[in-house]
This record gives sequence, structure tokens and C-alpha cells, in this order.
Amino acid sequence: MRITISQIKEMKRKGERIPMLTAYDYPTAKLVEESGVPMILVGDSLGQVVLGYPSTVQVTMEDMLHHTKAVVRGTQRALIVGDMPFMSYQPDISTALRNAGRFLQEAGAQAVKLEGGVTAAETVSQIVEWGIPVMGHIGLTPQSVNQLGGYKVQGRTPEAAARLIRDAQALQEAGAFAIVLESVPTPLSRLITERLSIPTIGIGAGLYCDGQVQVLHDMMGLFTDFIPKHAKRYAEMAQVFQEALGAYVREVREEEFPTEKESFTMDESVLAELATL
Ligand code: KIV
Repeated sequence: MRITISQIKEMKRKGERIPMLTAYDYPTAKLVEESGVPMILVGDSLGQVVLGYPSTVQVTMEDMLHHTKAVVRGTQRALIVGDMPFMSYQPDISTALRNAGRFLQEAGAQAVKLEGGVTAAETVSQIVEWGIPVMGHIGLTPQSVNQLGGYKVQGRTPEAAARLIRDAQALQEAGAFAIVLESVPTPLSRLITERLSIPTIGIGAGLYCDGQVQVLHDMMGLFTDFIPKHAKRYAEMAQVFQEALGAYVREVREEEFPTEKESFTMDESVLAELATL
């Protein structure tokens, strides 16, 4: 039985912190689940960290469904949130509903996430009304990077901060079960967290959110094109790969790999028979 959105909301009521991570494929989803996280996000960040696109704007529904299916296959307990890609929910509510439904029906996710506050509230409300749990996402919304003019901290002016508070309240009223706050100053995310009854999940939003989410490839040091300020490196996996790959190439060149351990024998009599052919 997977973790439910009620259990996630209950964690806030009990004051229990909510650790969340992204995953994009079967083996890493298994490892992420084994770490004990209650929720896994199949983020559209996969556009950059797995598929090599310049931003998340290029990610399609097909990309997302493909990776969400693999994460679902690799997990049993975690609540899986599928990230709705750019233009899969913005055009109109029926497009949004159909695509949100695909995450549950075709990919096996239990919830979806979409970006936007007041502007997205009606869409969130309709999706929730039809029985699909929605996680909101406000602050720095990477799908709007072209409008925002870069990956910048949001909510620093009184007007921008007030707008973010309204966005958070609108999403809660629309029925979102949790909200990601991305790149928001710590005092503002604290205020929003205190005002909401649903959990806030921070990324670059300080210590006082109810939970934290990190992009797996950033925290494991697997993605090295750039390192966002909000990402803490818990491992240097690129270095582990480089050392292992270098050792492999050297051993093949120097005829040290494979050894007998990685090779197969055959019956001497078969070999003798072959010699007579
Ligand atoms: O796509 C993603 O991984 C995200 C997180 C950064 C919250 O949206």
C-alpha cells in the first residue's frame, strides 16, 4: 500500500518533516525509496539532468509518462507525483484534465504537480474535483524561465511577496494537497508555511518549510553542467563514474579484463571434437 496524501497532510499536523526527492528511472527510484522518503517526484527537471535539454520547456508528456512508468515499477510504498510538463495544462482545463489523468491511468502515479498560483487555481480545482491529487508549485517556476528572465529568487519586493502569499492561499483553497516553494527567501517561506494548513515543500526556500525536495542528480553530484545554490552535494557520483570508467578502459586496453571470474568455460571433450571438424 502506498503512502496517501492524507498521510502527507498528517505529517504537517504532527510537525514531522517531509523529505522528498526526484527520481527518473527504475534503479534510482528503488534506491530513493529505500532511503525512506514518503514521496518521490518525477520532476520535469529530467529535461535537463537526464535528457540534456537546455530547460524544462522542451519536455513532453511522452517523456514524462515514459519516466514516471519506470519510477512506479521501481517502487511500492512511496507516493509518486508526476510533474505536468509545459503546455500539458496551460491551454485549457480539458487538456489539463486529460493529461493529469494520463499520469494516473497510464503511468501509475498517485498525484500530479503543476506550476502557478492564482492563475492555475481554477485548473487545480477542476483536476482535484475529478479525483486527481495536485501538488502546487510557486516561487521560481522553471517553465516560466523566459518570462522570469532567468532562474532568480522570487518574492523579494513587498508586491512580489504579497503575490506569493496570495498564490499559496489560492492553491490551498483550490484543493492542492501540498505546495512546492522554489527559490523563495526563508522568512517569506516561513510565513507562508505558518499560514497554510497544507504542507509546503521547499527547494531553495530555507529551513522552515514542512518538507524539502532536491533534484537527485544535483545532490548526488551526477549532473555537473551547473550547480544550483540550493543544491547540497551529498556525494560526488560523477567522480565515482569517471574513476570506474577510466579503470575499465585501461583494463580492456591492457588485457586485464575480463578475467576468468567474468568468463565461461566449456567441456574439454566438446573442444576436442571441434578440433576434428
Ligand atoms: O522538476 C522538478 O524536479 C521540480 C523540483 C525542482 C521541485 O519541479
